[in-house]
Amino acid sequence: MQIGILGGTGRMGRGLAKRWSLAGHSLFIGSRTPDRAQIIAQEIARETGGSVQAGDLKTCARVGEVVVLSIPYRACPSLLPTLQEELAGKVIIDITNPFGAVKEGQTSGVEENARALGVSARWVAAFKTNFWATLDQPVNKDGIVRDCFYCGDDLEAKNLIAELIRQVGYRPVDCGPLSSARVLDLMVPLMIEIDRHLGGNHQSSWKILD
Ligand SMILES: NC(=O)c1ccc[n+]([C@@H]2O[C@H](COP(=O)([O-])OP(=O)(O)OC[C@H]3O[C@@H](n4cnc5c(N)ncnc54)[C@H](OP(=O)(O)O)[C@@H]3O)[C@@H](O)[C@H]2O)c1
Repeated sequence: MQIGILGGTGRMGRGLAKRWSLAGHSLFIGSRTPDRAQIIAQEIARETGGSVQAGDLKTCARVGEVVVLSIPYRACPSLLPTLQEELAGKVIIDITNPFGAVKEGQTSGVEENARALGVSARWVAAFKTNFWATLDQPVNKDGIVRDCFYCGDDLEAKNLIAELIRQVGYRPVDCGPLSSARVLDLMVPLMIEIDRHLGGNHQSSWKILD
């Protein structure tokens, strides 16, 4: 599958690109500075032996069969309406964290992003509660597989994303409809606070026991 990562030059974007490239997907790194993205794409391709290309954000949104939104949340309201044509009907994985920029508990970053895009797409919120530093270590030091919470209203899109989560090495945990992201958004600042108390090495993860 061709996966486009908007903001693929960042910490999360690079980590996801690497994991999915190792799983056999073709990656496209989207950036405001395609020249820099090209260098990063070549580095990832060298490391994984996979196909990793790079270019501007519009091209990334166009070529991605699945598109990951991996830029700062504050940049989404202005960027998304410029990508309507490219993103209409696509499966979009929203990993952005709004950190209080939305009415907490009443809406969520992903719901606001869906509104900002202005055309229908198949939104799934995921990876919001996973630190970038754990993408390389989906199993923690005690041998426990980390959980990745995801939610959405499109069952087929969710199943696809669950598989992509498995390919990163995390256990996918279905949190129900897209509106569940209202809670996921609030778990993030708490996770950062807890991680700080545990030494601040970004190795903390939320875990559901069953
Ligand atoms: N860090 C984490 O552990 C973590 C965990 C879960 C979710 N998240 C969320 O994932 C997203 C990415 O986080 P990150 O830690 O990877 O951030 P990052 O390292 O700062 O990378 C974000 C990327 O977004 C692009 N970008 C920055 N400002 C932009 C703008 N105004 N318009 C378009 N693109 C812009 C940049 O790419 P170019 O300069 O190449 O364009 C940058 O490489 C954020 O929404 C964050 O809240 C982060």
